[in-house]
Amino acid sequence: MNVLVIGGGGREHALCWKLNQSKHCKMLYAAPGNGGTANCAINLKLKVSDFDGIKKAVLKYSIDLVIVGPEDPLVLGIHDFFTMDPYLKNVGVIGPQKKAAQLEGSKSFAKEFMKRHKIPTAAYSEFTSETISEGEKFLEQSKPPYVLKADGLAAGKGVLIIEDLKEAKFELGQMLLKSKYGEASKKVVIEEFLPGIELSCFVLFDGDNYIKLPMAKDYKRIGEGDRGLNTGGMGAISPVPFVDSLFDEKIDHQIIKPTIEGLKKDGINYKGFIFIGLIKVGDTPFVIEYNVRLGDPETEVVIPRIENDLVEVFKAANEGSLDKIKLQITPKSAATVMLVSEGYPEVYQKDKNIFGLPKNKMIFHAGTSIEKSSLKTSGGRVMAVTSFGDNFKTALKESYKIVEKIEYDGKYYRKDIGFDL
Ligand code: AMP
Ligand code: GLY
Repeated sequence: MNVLVIGGGGREHALCWKLNQSKHCKMLYAAPGNGGTANCAINLKLKVSDFDGIKKAVLKYSIDLVIVGPEDPLVLGIHDFFTMDPYLKNVGVIGPQKKAAQLEGSKSFAKEFMKRHKIPTAAYSEFTSETISEGEKFLEQSKPPYVLKADGLAAGKGVLIIEDLKEAKFELGQMLLKSKYGEASKKVVIEEFLPGIELSCFVLFDGDNYIKLPMAKDYKRIGEGDRGLNTGGMGAISPVPFVDSLFDEKIDHQIIKPTIEGLKKDGINYKGFIFIGLIKVGDTPFVIEYNVRLGDPETEVVIPRIENDLVEVFKAANEGSLDKIKLQITPKSAATVMLVSEGYPEVYQKDKNIFGLPKNKMIFHAGTSIEKSSLKTSGGRVMAVTSFGDNFKTALKESYKIVEKIEYDGKYYRKDIGFDL
């Protein structure tokens, strides 16, 4: 089987690394891939939203199965593009249909879905430029901190958590009247702040059956002690130590099952990953958000823990027979530490030479490229270093040992992943 992975981050490198180990994988392609996927797949110079370019590549290389990594092509409707094209309709696509992708593409759609299906989430209201004065009143009647969310995709930046009422009102105005996040903030969801500890839960759904993947916890802030700006993620561990069997059952019954049943009841076709961002408040799980893809860097700890042949899993997802798949998960813990470029998530430099990369380790490239056969940084997040251990602490120790060997100008990483556990 010939497989194409769409995307070019650490998540996609981890997927390629695992797919490359499958006995069913004949040729593996990544679009656009990165300096890491170049070692286990053939990189195709294509943008993830260039559907026509992707079509040409799929036909040229006789690709049977496409795995979509990031949310943008999903929200833009890549799955439907394949289904509706007479030449592509028999190619398997793992990644949900356009309507279903609204679960990530619109906070308002996701909140309404949760309300309709009684899935625990923060109380909320939504506002547009026409109802901004009601939005201000709503803020006045709410308790700080105020949580403001741009309805649409805003490259992970559309959520503001603000202590001060005046500032919250100002930002609401910036979003609704001044297009702070462009089209994405034409509608704003204001919701109750939920205090607690976050975790990421992953499900693969074939439209009928689903399998639960290992859970993970990621570290989103740039600074130690979870301070500073939000990033794509600075590290992750799996499993999550505070998920005991009782809490796990609550997640199953209160969150996953009603989500799956809700999609079926609403007649929303869905084939792909569901990433449920959860927060544990006391002993109760609440949904913070849905994403319609795997998390990054969560994938870099979740995928290595899966012992099955990944092509077999995706083939079953494509054919609607996930009920036949029994996931084998290593009991070992996995931890990953993200190396980034100094300045990230704001302005940072690129094109720095990377040295000292150890061989035969689980190093998943996020922002690297190969130029004239030398490996260079090409993004804010550069690479995720994953290790196994008997528990997350020993796994982290191993990752930190490797991290110290890797060199490039402006290398930065958090030294406190797992500090809160
Ligand atoms: P989101 O893009 O919806 O995942 O939000 C980004 C981050 O904001 C989340 O990972 C949480 O840390 C935080 N957050 C979002 N909504 C809430 C909420 N209702 N209460 C507390 N924190 C939140
Ligand atoms: N690590 C969080 C995300 O992928 O959205």
